[in-house]
Amino acid sequence: MRAQEVSGKRVLVRVDFNVPVGQNGQVSDDTRIRAALPTINYLLGQKAKVILVSHLGRPKGKIDEKYRMDPVAGRLSELLGQPVTKVDDCVGELAQSAVDRMQSGDVVLLENVRFHPEEEKNNEDFARQLAGLADIFVNDAFGTAHRAHASTEGVAKFLPAVAGFLMENELNMLGKLLAEPERPFVAVMGGAKVSDKIAVIASLFNKVDTLIIGGGMANTFLKAQGFETGISLLEADKVEMAQGLIEEAKKRGVNFLLPVDVVVAVAADPGADRKTVPVEKIPTDWMALDIGPESVARFSEVLQAARTVIWNGPMGVFEMEPFAKGTEAIARVLAETDATTVIGGGDSVAAVKKAGVAQKITHISTGGGASLEFLEGKQLPGVVALLDK
Ligand code: 3PG
Repeated sequence: MRAQEVSGKRVLVRVDFNVPVGQNGQVSDDTRIRAALPTINYLLGQKAKVILVSHLGRPKGKIDEKYRMDPVAGRLSELLGQPVTKVDDCVGELAQSAVDRMQSGDVVLLENVRFHPEEEKNNEDFARQLAGLADIFVNDAFGTAHRAHASTEGVAKFLPAVAGFLMENELNMLGKLLAEPERPFVAVMGGAKVSDKIAVIASLFNKVDTLIIGGGMANTFLKAQGFETGISLLEADKVEMAQGLIEEAKKRGVNFLLPVDVVVAVAADPGADRKTVPVEKIPTDWMALDIGPESVARFSEVLQAARTVIWNGPMGVFEMEPFAKGTEAIARVLAETDATTVIGGGDSVAAVKKAGVAQKITHISTGGGASLEFLEGKQLPGVVALLDK
């Protein structure tokens, strides 16, 4: 971005301000807003006119009051220490007149770009309208780089387009991880569903020394190993595929670790009866909701010896205190190691924050789906579209 002359120019910055907004109408986690500050502050330092555009939630092409950008504008203004003009549309008369009134060093935040159905369709005319507001396009929305939308990919056809600092930093960190990881390289995959992570698991076999599986998705692998999983979350139609992945790991010499014990309960309820059992003894009417202490010990041993670790997805239903121990233990082990540690995906990021160890992680990605697609080796349309890609 520094190579671009931005001084005094109108710069359209695609940010990923898709942040949680609480019942009180306040942003409850401003990580993604903070992560975009280096780019915004740099542009302001260059006396550019900074026009920010983002999506928030999935309003499906219609105005939805709960997805307006106003809370984000409020938080951004606090963080920047200067006013942020929120505009109630992202194209058309309203947007244009707000931009026309801008002075150098001003910040405008446009309304949720997904209020227009053309955004997700990557409509060319809509992209041209967005581009018409500015002289230069900066894409700093790594979290949305896997979407070929008008404000990520389309707009880059009509303006000089470059990566912002957040985008650059993410691509460098994740790129380095795949290109030259210090070994042993361990990946920890969790979360509810294996179907979301099949592609990334398969592609990680080419790169990692050990793959650790936890969370709801472990049940499908346990079933594939012949264990009964009671009433645990299970993707029955993926059991065969899970079996295939286990065999593939063996063939490639990848150490493939599944939980050896789990915390089971009669319902996914913090008050439900619960106990810890070995995976071969999951009772018929119980469900696995966390990894057990023996699994934590085994996973920790491998993680402590690792030089590079990536983690995506919790080890259990960590939103409920009785089932959060496994996820929190992994977060702490990662915080204590001096290996390069990289975390992606909202839930694992929330877990390291909850454990109070976020500052001890080498890199916390702002991308969930985007970081997974990157690790899969896929080209991200939002990145491909940039001149300095
Ligand atoms: C995310 O939170 O992963 C990004 O903001 C992308 O959001 P989306 O999955 O709704 O496209």
